[in-house]
Amino acid sequence: MTTDTTGTVARDGDSRPGGPADSPFIRACRRRPVPHTPVWFMRQAGRSLPEYREIRASVPMLESCRRPELVTEITLQPVRRHGVDAAILFSDIVVPVAAAGIDLDIVPGTGPVVAEPIRTAADVERIRRITRDDVSYVDEAVRQLVVELGDTPLIGFAGAPFTLASYLVEGGPSRTHAKTKALMYGDPELWHALCARLAEVTLAFLRVQIEAGVSAVQLFDSWAGALSEADYRRFVLPHSTTVLSGLVDDCSGSGRGDRRAEPERSPAGVPRIHFGVGTAELLGAMGEAGADVVGVDWRTPLDVATGRIGADKAVQGNLDPCVLLAPWPVVEAEVRRILEQGRAAPGHVFNLGHGVLPETDPEVLTRVVALVHELSSRRADQG
Ligand code: CP3
Repeated sequence: MTTDTTGTVARDGDSRPGGPADSPFIRACRRRPVPHTPVWFMRQAGRSLPEYREIRASVPMLESCRRPELVTEITLQPVRRHGVDAAILFSDIVVPVAAAGIDLDIVPGTGPVVAEPIRTAADVERIRRITRDDVSYVDEAVRQLVVELGDTPLIGFAGAPFTLASYLVEGGPSRTHAKTKALMYGDPELWHALCARLAEVTLAFLRVQIEAGVSAVQLFDSWAGALSEADYRRFVLPHSTTVLSGLVDDCSGSGRGDRRAEPERSPAGVPRIHFGVGTAELLGAMGEAGADVVGVDWRTPLDVATGRIGADKAVQGNLDPCVLLAPWPVVEAEVRRILEQGRAAPGHVFNLGHGVLPETDPEVLTRVVALVHELSSRRADQG
């Protein structure tokens, strides 16, 4: 635990000068001055990398998430290659749901597919509460990674209740989320019971990662943009709030006297990023769920987004992943624009507006990292 110049007590995982808690990424999340704008990419550990494809050639997706030595290697690959400012744990949002007893698979080219979709109250009861033992491979991988990464922060993550519920109710990916919405509007009581259970699983999964040493967490509500703000507030916000503010409540000591979290690992000190796609109308509400950083997709310029989110939160984003497929001068112009618009926010973490597409040339990603660092450090020098 350290006290910074503003007198705020920081309960970061490791607040040595130069350690992960003092990294540009964590500093930007906390709206503190940075030597350069930090950058990482959603889905940076994935199919755009030949070294990833080689490892995954013989190992199914869910199995690779359950083997700590593979998780460690795949998580480190983009850090080595691109020099990004943060690593994101290699896993998937459905990993804790599978650990909770739901029979599912991640089908290449399709995504998560659930054997028996959740449609009734009895189905909700099939989603068991999870403990650290159910995801011990994640605990082990994070502990290994924290050692390997040294001063580079590791981001833990989970899926938010709405996005997880969509996969579970639909039985797989969906364009309209029609079955999910039919349940939500048709049986609000069952909907809230399902999301409350998913919030418990998600919170437990994030706590395991935080106690094992991640420096920040991202809650992915990728498909929340399918909802109006009114429906988001009624059907989703309470459950995402349970997750994000639940991480802070851990610190108050109320009701969790059984936990032996080391104080310096206290979740209250871990920045929380909240992200969704197509969320222009939801940015303010998503911030209210208890985020320190709100992820923005490419549809909303960062200065406009900041006006909606408020000056008490940092922003993350928001290069269109498809721009990476364009000629370099186009990429460069877009990076410049985003850095400029990001200056309106009290903190900016450079990222894409959604995940890296598999067909992306990894060398373009490396060049983007170098460009973000170069342009933003020049500005920092000028004060
Ligand atoms: O960001 C990272 O590099 C860390 C790893 C990560 C994966 N999935 C690995 C993965 C993260 C953070 C996720 C999160 C995730 N998973 C989300 C939220 C982020 C988002 O994209 O909105 C969602 C919605 C999922 C569910 C999911 N899993 C989808 C839609 C897919 C794609 C299906 C496909 O093959 O196109 C997956 C599979 C998946 N998750 C892969 C990876 C690397 C591809 C599997 C493979 O390589 O065969």
